[in-house]
Amino acid sequence: MQAVQKLMKVFITRRIPPEGAKLLSQAGVYEVAQWDSDEPVPRAELLKGVEGAHGILCLLSDKIDAELLDAAGPNLKVISTLSVGFDHMAMDEIKKRGIRVGYTPDVLTDATAELTVALLLAAARRLPEGVEEVKKSVGGWSSWKPLWLCGYGLSGSTVGVVGLGRIGLAIAKRLKAFGVKRTLYSGRTAKAYAGEVGGEFVPLDTLVAESDFVVVSCSLTPDTKGMCDQAFFNKMKKTAVFVNSSRGTVVNQEDLYQALSTGQIAAAGLDVTTPEPLPTDHPLLTLKNCVVLPHIGSATYSTRGVMAELSAQNLLGGLQGTDMPSELTF
Ligand code: NDP
Ligand code: DGY
Repeated sequence: MQAVQKLMKVFITRRIPPEGAKLLSQAGVYEVAQWDSDEPVPRAELLKGVEGAHGILCLLSDKIDAELLDAAGPNLKVISTLSVGFDHMAMDEIKKRGIRVGYTPDVLTDATAELTVALLLAAARRLPEGVEEVKKSVGGWSSWKPLWLCGYGLSGSTVGVVGLGRIGLAIAKRLKAFGVKRTLYSGRTAKAYAGEVGGEFVPLDTLVAESDFVVVSCSLTPDTKGMCDQAFFNKMKKTAVFVNSSRGTVVNQEDLYQALSTGQIAAAGLDVTTPEPLPTDHPLLTLKNCVVLPHIGSATYSTRGVMAELSAQNLLGGLQGTDMPSELTF
């Protein structure tokens, strides 16, 4: 790779996997400043750190807004995020300033789809409850009982995927192997590739009413924010399972709590919440029929390594003014 022009400043907002860090150190960028921690950089430190930067490598937990762009100043040429989601970035402000953006699509699709299927099965087949019952010294697992810890199976079911994008399609493909009978999907447009999973493009209301499993894998946009609300859950079958691995803000969590606690829906699996982390005293965490994971969709060692590598390559391409392997066009 061509050496990056000296005198460029880069700010990395977190400790990143070695695959990415190595690429950056080999590139000979003049000044790499980093928040060298596994925990998020405090806002004040972030604003200070980006001052005069030509490039920023950020995470989905960093809010990239006008204040941050002002703090960085006119040198800023590129922002590379270690994520496929870019809802943490004020795209209009970024565009206005002519800053390029890199992100990490595709490389995390398989890992995220796999985790979403695991989460669906955990919620539908009550795995965390079962694990707890086995450990109880009193009143737990007493015998094999006909209706104890029964849940819902995928075979012969209808699955509804809200947002049949890269990850939605990968989820649908995996679920097919479990004997799913119908795959419905909704979004802004029908997808030619939906044929790969026999997907039927339907209005959201139809998907919600007819699905045994509703899986949300869309991006967070002004249209999808709060989309899963009381009206949404009221339309679901009482035996249906809701799964969200997109962004927490797509769901109205108070309405989800109501739906789960009143038996309006059977169960939910969430890999994403609002806020993150979810406070440990949050009402959703009191429910046995709600499985909450700490946003680990893409968390395999190899996926995170490739994400780090790709985000470093994106950053370097932006600094050099050359192609970025995954540039977000907007
Ligand atoms: P894609 O861009 O491929 O897919 C996004 C999908 O969202 C598109 O198919 C789009 O469908 C759909 N969408 C947009 N607006 C709407 C709408 N109003 N109603 C329904 N669907 C809509 O992205 P990916 O599949 O790669 O990633 C999707 C999201 O998953 C990311 O944005 C991120 O938030 C989340 N994610 C979460 C991870 C985790 O760890 N839990 C890991 C990786 C990603 P259409 O074009 O028809 O509108
Ligand atoms: C993303 O990439 O958007 C995920 O949420 C984390 O991998």
